[in-house]
Amino acid sequence: MAFVTTLFMTAGCYSGLHKAQTLKSPDGNLELKFTINGKGTPVYSLSYKGKAIVLPSEMGFELRGEQDKKELDKKTYGKPVDLFRNFTIVNVERSTKDETWSPLMGEESHIRNHYNELTITLVQNLSRKDKRAFAKKMAGTAFDAARPKTGGNYLAAAERLPQDTSIRKAAQEEAGMEGTDTSAKNETDSATVKYSQASNADNSLLFNGNENIPKVSAVVEDIEKGENKTITMVIRFRLYDDGLGFRYEFPQQKNLTYFVIKDEKTQFAMAGNYTAFWIPGDYDTQEYNYTVCKLSRIPSKFKKAADRNASQQLTEVPSVQTALQMRTKDSIYVNIHEAAALDYPAMNLAIKRHTFTTLLTPDAEGWKAHMQAPCKTPWRTVMVVDNACKVLASRLILNLNEPCALKDTSWIYPVKYMGVWWEMISGMSTWSYTNDYPSVILGKTDYSKCKPNGTHGANSKNVKKYIDFASENGFDALLVEGWNIGWEDWFGKQKYDVFDFKTPYPDFNLDSLNRYAHSKGIRLIMHHETSSSVTNYERHMEDAYDFMNEKGYDAVKSGYVGDIIPTGQHHYSQEITNHYHYAIVEAAKHHIMVDAHEAVRPTGLCRTYPNMIGNESARGKEYQSFGGVNPAHVTILPFTRLQGGPMDYTPGIFEMDLSKFSPDNHNKVKATICNQLALYVTMYSPLQMAADIPENYATKMNAFQFIKDVAVDWEQSKYLLAEPGDYIVVARQVKKSSLDKASKSLATLANGKKVYVNGATAFCKGNKDVWFVGGVTDENKRTLSFSLDFLIPGKHYEATVYEDAPDADYEKNPEAYSILKKTVDSTTILNMTMARGGGFAISIKEI
Ligand code: NOJ
Ligand code: CA
Repeated sequence: MAFVTTLFMTAGCYSGLHKAQTLKSPDGNLELKFTINGKGTPVYSLSYKGKAIVLPSEMGFELRGEQDKKELDKKTYGKPVDLFRNFTIVNVERSTKDETWSPLMGEESHIRNHYNELTITLVQNLSRKDKRAFAKKMAGTAFDAARPKTGGNYLAAAERLPQDTSIRKAAQEEAGMEGTDTSAKNETDSATVKYSQASNADNSLLFNGNENIPKVSAVVEDIEKGENKTITMVIRFRLYDDGLGFRYEFPQQKNLTYFVIKDEKTQFAMAGNYTAFWIPGDYDTQEYNYTVCKLSRIPSKFKKAADRNASQQLTEVPSVQTALQMRTKDSIYVNIHEAAALDYPAMNLAIKRHTFTTLLTPDAEGWKAHMQAPCKTPWRTVMVVDNACKVLASRLILNLNEPCALKDTSWIYPVKYMGVWWEMISGMSTWSYTNDYPSVILGKTDYSKCKPNGTHGANSKNVKKYIDFASENGFDALLVEGWNIGWEDWFGKQKYDVFDFKTPYPDFNLDSLNRYAHSKGIRLIMHHETSSSVTNYERHMEDAYDFMNEKGYDAVKSGYVGDIIPTGQHHYSQEITNHYHYAIVEAAKHHIMVDAHEAVRPTGLCRTYPNMIGNESARGKEYQSFGGVNPAHVTILPFTRLQGGPMDYTPGIFEMDLSKFSPDNHNKVKATICNQLALYVTMYSPLQMAADIPENYATKMNAFQFIKDVAVDWEQSKYLLAEPGDYIVVARQVKKSSLDKASKSLATLANGKKVYVNGATAFCKGNKDVWFVGGVTDENKRTLSFSLDFLIPGKHYEATVYEDAPDADYEKNPEAYSILKKTVDSTTILNMTMARGGGFAISIKEI
């Protein structure tokens, strides 16, 4: 009889755990369902207020097979190993977290991290015998957890187990066999309490009180000790009010230690033909304009969506990059991205009809990731909100990243800078020093013997001019590109030894320029173009960072133009994403802030490593000089690229006709001046550049005033109006505590000017409350109205409004603006008209 009972329990328990697991967001609007399908494949789905958003989508991996050791003349591998079938759920754990943390710099000073978590442990290839043993143990463990430790009311304890589950039935039977004592009510209560403790049942209310399955990790360990071929994989889901994050984890185990991922098979099956704002999937560049269309149209538009870049490889099949913004026909906003992507390649999303499948960036041999358990993948995220402003307000990606890893962050601060840069980008001057040498060899080429080309931008005289201008106008720093030898043949040559990051050109007096800059309250920003010779950069990195420390540089802009060396690697493969991370971590040891261009798109790592103060990793303003950034671009980036972290977009162009100062460049900037001003507010970054040349500002100093005044680090942000591809209006309140951090840092230098007030600090001085508002539109003129109800009621403020002139137009009249001052308060409603490709910017300070 006992034997029959055991069998019954086994089958019952097994199917009990296979029941779909559900998880709700703290507000109950989002619901995740997880199950194992008939093939034993993990499957998840997601709904919002009862409406399907992600249909059942498969999860798992395909691994590289064993290498065939007999075939010596070629590398061949046996049958791939599947890690997406034959799984059994052996454990389910639930928890919740609600905390508030403070980013060092950010869009707001306090961020709430509130989620419910569901962690599923899966075992693959469990033998029938093990399944039986597991189920038996499962029932016993559940019962043990429910049973009062002191003995007593067994039946009552069994009653505490989840309704209608076989575990409960089994426990009831076991209780019956062991004998019962139903007399003492207080014992029932104490059993209740103990069960709560044993199984985290205090969270059970969050999950509708069902599925309180106790911890059974001990069971898994037992299985792993046995002679079997099982593999354990954990999937951790976190559900927030604004979206889902999930990741795969591989615990330490006997049968999975070192493994190579051939493909990640995670799907995102969209429940409808959503509208997507996308750039094409590529392993080497993100510098594309966005295309807007229905999901079903993406494959036919895929190739046309890509224009030329110095290094690019479109994915073999139609795909898109993350962060991908979508909108359903009921105006639900769905966004797919990644968080905390470390030691793993970046993900593209291959599309078939409405279903995306993960397409990881390959390494030089075509494999995706080399893993060593214990390890975990990045988070995959699906944001779901009912309003576009909520996408901009979401902190899903940051929340899924680890807290700050740096003990001392006192050396990190917000930076507003200018650069000897746009003049090279526009073709007015050059990075290179001479035209004499078609090829240069570092250490051998003698630059004192060549004729200077006369167009080298980073010459001491020119740099001094910029230092003076930046200093007079309250900037913190000045970037100088083209200061170091090697620019004559830096580009597109697959040259290994391309820069040494240390030797200045003969006309760039590094020591005296740094001294001069510091005495004027300016830091020079180092530039490390690597030309994607990653191996070379790593070889020089320690020396290059030491050199920076020695000379008083504390920030570096790095760049990865062209194809990667080691040859065959891609910008977003695992090895190269590891390089970007290595550069950040090593920089932190040297107290250096990093702004990497062309590096992998960020996934919120600035929370953990706040010295990662910026990234480009998208089509930046520089493309205005190469022929095109669509006006709508800046209304999409905050929904996509900026979800992962701040962008060094380099705004602030005032002369829209480039031929005016760079005669051979006939491109026109597709934006109005007020659109450029607005970007300091709409595109969050603690590193903001005023990108144009001083001469172009000098003629429009009244508009330039906004760039001087604007802050770059915020106490709070209000997303007033937004629609991807159309417009964005954002208001941000200044974070006073970080205003003078740049000058404090400068004062630590022997020759640093001690008393120095930057523009934002000067503007905010003595004022209690200061806000900046920015609005941008696409290629359509539009009038938007919004309330200033975020201001403190009863207080009066002076607003300085920078707006497009009535006849402004990004194509016909981009430089027409007007400026007016008015008194406003929390009851004020503003109606702002933006020209085609236009915008507005407002500074508001309490009077
Ligand atoms: C591309 C970067 O985006 C740009 O800002 C830089 O000037 C060039 N590379 C040269 O390093
Ligand atoms: Ca770039």
